[in-house]
Parts: sequence; structure tokens; C-alpha cells
Amino acid sequence: MKLQIISACLLVSTYSIGANKQNEKWVDNALRTATHQLLYTAKTIHTPNTMPRSSWRRYDIAFLEKQMEADSTAFARELVKQTPTEKVGTLRTCDIYDWTSGFYPGSLWYAYELTQNGKLKTQAERFTTMLNPIRHYTQTHDIGFMINCSYGNALRLTHNDTIKAVIIETADNLCKRFDPRIGCIRSWDFGTWNFPVIIDNMMNLDLLFNASKLTGNNKYRDIAIKHALTTIKHHFRPDFTSFHVVSYNADGSVEKQCTFQGKADNSAWARGQAWGVYGYTACYRETRNNVFLKQAVNIADMIMQRVKTSDNIPYWDYDAPTLPNTPRDVSAAAITASALIELSRLAPTGKKYLDYAQKILRNLSSPQYLAAKGTNNGFILMHSVGSLPNGSEIDTPINYADYYYLEALKRYIDIKK
Ligand code: GLY
Repeated sequence: MKLQIISACLLVSTYSIGANKQNEKWVDNALRTATHQLLYTAKTIHTPNTMPRSSWRRYDIAFLEKQMEADSTAFARELVKQTPTEKVGTLRTCDIYDWTSGFYPGSLWYAYELTQNGKLKTQAERFTTMLNPIRHYTQTHDIGFMINCSYGNALRLTHNDTIKAVIIETADNLCKRFDPRIGCIRSWDFGTWNFPVIIDNMMNLDLLFNASKLTGNNKYRDIAIKHALTTIKHHFRPDFTSFHVVSYNADGSVEKQCTFQGKADNSAWARGQAWGVYGYTACYRETRNNVFLKQAVNIADMIMQRVKTSDNIPYWDYDAPTLPNTPRDVSAAAITASALIELSRLAPTGKKYLDYAQKILRNLSSPQYLAAKGTNNGFILMHSVGSLPNGSEIDTPINYADYYYLEALKRYIDIKK
């Protein structure tokens, strides 16, 4: 009896979290699930400076090989390490220096914004604060993701004087990775490339635009614009698909165009295409330069033409073979949806982008992709792909899929208002 009363109370309080009479039912259900999952995860993590990242999976190397182009340089068979059996299905965490460390705090901020649930805010503050040392970290372009998704959202939603300083210091460190002869920010410090720039780097420009707004100094914004213009020149093919990695020689000429996470050097890796359309939409939002709008529209149209699935959740690479077990990448879908909702407000042909994004969001909010409460190691969405060629995070929940899903829901709710 006592248990029944407790369950009933829990049900009522869970229902009131995030429920909003103006939202469509599937949106409310998504917000209730997100709230439950994010708070569940917060309770699970006790180790300092630790973030939830994904779930550990095993995979079949023969299957990975079939997904890749025979002569692909990206598939490093000898580097693919198998997950020990006892780890399979358990939560994969990461430390604060991992490129994904800003997404869980960012998800907590978005969920708090969407539901006004104070417990989410408390956890958002707890996990954002863990990232404070990143203001001194200089060894990757990913500091843009890490700080903008965590502290960037904190700045929008709370009043705290220290946030601004973290954003500006990180932006200064990101600018130190910019080479004016090349016109780009260097992405990675590992590997054999001379000066690697990945399409993902477009996502770090928002931090620079924010730093210019906070300081009144255009130097951050100018670097962002230059990086975006150089990337148009060397990352994109005539059909508006993009290379994952472009490496430059010191004089700015191209050393190499290739992939690290896609099916082949000349394929259209799904998340890379999503990073591209998101990045150029953001650049247009900040600059109103039509070159950026045209680029975003062309990438969006290419994505909509190239998708092979009926639910608009793309396979992990738009050129992947369509076998019954080819994994979809929910993270690419969520990023694309978020970008297209923003693009729908900016482009003259906006409605088709909103319709496409809405279909993605509705499908992601169905039991096929949305986790049942208390499952999925506390993540909101299932079925993303991290890096198939490296045998890592294939068909698993991933923290950035959840982040961009919540951002897309926020943008969707705003536009429907
Ligand atoms: N930025 C790394 C990735 O998209 O996997």
C-alpha cells in the first residue's frame, strides 16, 4: 500500500515535470523522458570531473569491413580494439578533457530551460562548474564545443559574473590555434597531418561570435568568418557534400583531403554533413552574409536529396551500403534537425526545412529511438554512431545526440509559439 502511494506520488510529480498545455503530446512526452533520464544520470555519477558519454558496445569486425570502402584509408583494422565482455552495456564515462564533456551539462541547461525544473538547474550548475579548468586547455579545437555548450548555455540562463571570463579565456585559446597564412583554426594535434582541419570545427565558431559580443572586440568574429570562408573553398565538393578532414601545408595549399570517421575519403559522412549545415546556418545568423546562407541551403538540400531512410534518420554515412543492419546515426539526425529549424527561420524557402526537421523530431520521439525511462544508461536517445572506422560507439546512445535533440526541441517549441 505504502509503495503504491509512493509510486502514485512519483507518477504525479514526474508528469508535472515539463508538461505544458501548449506543447504537442509527443513533445511533452519527450521532455518528461529527458528530465527523468538526465536526473537519473546525475544520481549515478559520483566520481569528480566525470561526464556520461555513451554505452560500451561490442561489434563484429567483418561487419565493419563490409560497411567500409575496400581501399579506405580510414579503416585501421589493427587499431580496432574490442570491448571486454564484462564492460558491454555499461555506462561509458569520460573526463572533462574529452571533446564531449560539455554536452551533458548543456543538456541539463536545455532541459531546465524547457521545464523550469529546479533539480535540473542544480545539476546543470554542478556539472558546468566541473569544466572550469577547460579555460586553460589549449590542445584541441573542441574547447569550443566543451565551453559553449556548457558555459554558453549557463550564460544565457543564469547570472554569474565568472561565466563571461571562462568564455573569453577559452575563445582566446581557440584563436591561438588560428593560422592567418592558412586562414583556419587547427583542429587536432594528433596524427600525421601537417595542419588538420575537420568540418566539425565549424561548430566552434559560435563561441567566437559570443566572445565578440561579450567583449565588443571583433577579433574573434573575424577569425570565425575567415575560417568559415576558407572551409567553403577546400572542404566542399561540387555537390555540396564535404570532406571530413582537410590538411593544409604551411603556405595554405591543401596537403590532403580525406576522412577519419566516414566510409571513404570521398564519401558523405552523415555527422560531418550535419556539422556543416549547422555551422553555416550559425554563420549566417551572426553575419547576414549571403555566402553563408547559400552554403547552408545547398548543404540542407543535398542532405534532403541524399537521405535513403524513410524516417529521415540517416545511415551513419550517406554513402554507406544499405544493408539490413547498416546503423543509422541518431546524432546526425538531431544536429540536422536543430540546424534546419534555425535555417527555416532564415531562408526564403524555410518551410521545407521545418517540415523535414519536424519529421526527424517526431521519429526521434517515438519508442524506436527515445529510450524508456530508467533504461539506456540514462541517455535520452538510442542508436547513434561515434566512429565506425575506429570501431568505436556503434549503434549506441551518445551524449551529443541528446544535446542537439533537446536544442532542436527548444527551437521547435519556440517556432511553434
Ligand atoms: N567531433 C567529433 C565527432 O563528430 O565525432
